[in-house]
Amino acid sequence: MSLLTIRNVKVAYGKVVALDGVSLTVGEGELVTLVGTNGAGKSTLMKAIMGIVRCSAGEIECEGRSLFGRETHDIARLGIAYVPEGRGTLRELSVRENLRLGAFWRPWDAEAKSDLDRVLARFPILAERINQHAGTLSGGEQQMLVIGRALMSRPRLMLLDEPSLGLAPLIGQRIFDIVAELSAQGVAVLLVEQNAHAALKLAKRGYVLDMGKIVLEGEGLADSRLVREAYLGSEACGL
Ligand SMILES: Nc1ncnc2c1ncn2[C@@H]1O[C@H](COP(=O)(O)OP(=O)(O)O)[C@@H](O)[C@H]1O
Ligand SMILES: [Mg+2]
Repeated sequence: MSLLTIRNVKVAYGKVVALDGVSLTVGEGELVTLVGTNGAGKSTLMKAIMGIVRCSAGEIECEGRSLFGRETHDIARLGIAYVPEGRGTLRELSVRENLRLGAFWRPWDAEAKSDLDRVLARFPILAERINQHAGTLSGGEQQMLVIGRALMSRPRLMLLDEPSLGLAPLIGQRIFDIVAELSAQGVAVLLVEQNAHAALKLAKRGYVLDMGKIVLEGEGLADSRLVREAYLGSEACGL
């Protein structure tokens, strides 16, 4: 059984159909990429998983348990961590406070503290900046902070919405390396990216979303001629 199963999901914002029958799976510990141009519906799919937008049809399950009708914080408790587009650090709070928020539903006990130590060991730059306001961090550091915060909830599945957006190519690559490490350590990842080439190269399996529909899926999409011509264009020269 897949960790995450999405079947024939439909979402509309008024008359705008954002997802038109999307099906997708993520296996235990698997890294799956979802690419598509701006407006394709990628962020909507993540919000649908987290119960932030309502689906008008279909099914979303985590290990066979339906996520429909659950509150976002209950979905997080099932082990799904969501890192939204635009990072979402709390700029006025310190790095430490931001990280602690990731463990909001757990007691702040020895185990949570050792999780904090592990996150700081993974991102030494955050340890250096532990008492600084998050707003003073660079874009790449903020992205590490939100990934670190998500890790504080001990997720089994991470939803990452365009983590490389707005970052210099080398920093974006560092974020992709971190994503690959997470997946190697058994955390399943659904990675949404406009930076299609780098993302498709990172994951073994991927999906291409276009105007609310999955138009391609499978392994080795980065090498698919159709994908290169239709979706990668000049981006293929990027990362
Ligand atoms: N809150 C909203 N209200 C109305 N339309 C929206 C809203 N959010 C997204 N949309 C529309 O839904 C479609 C998919 O958007 P989105 O999921 O953000 O795409 P992506 O993340 O792939 O860029 C777009 O046409 C977008 O304009
Ligand atoms: Mg988006």
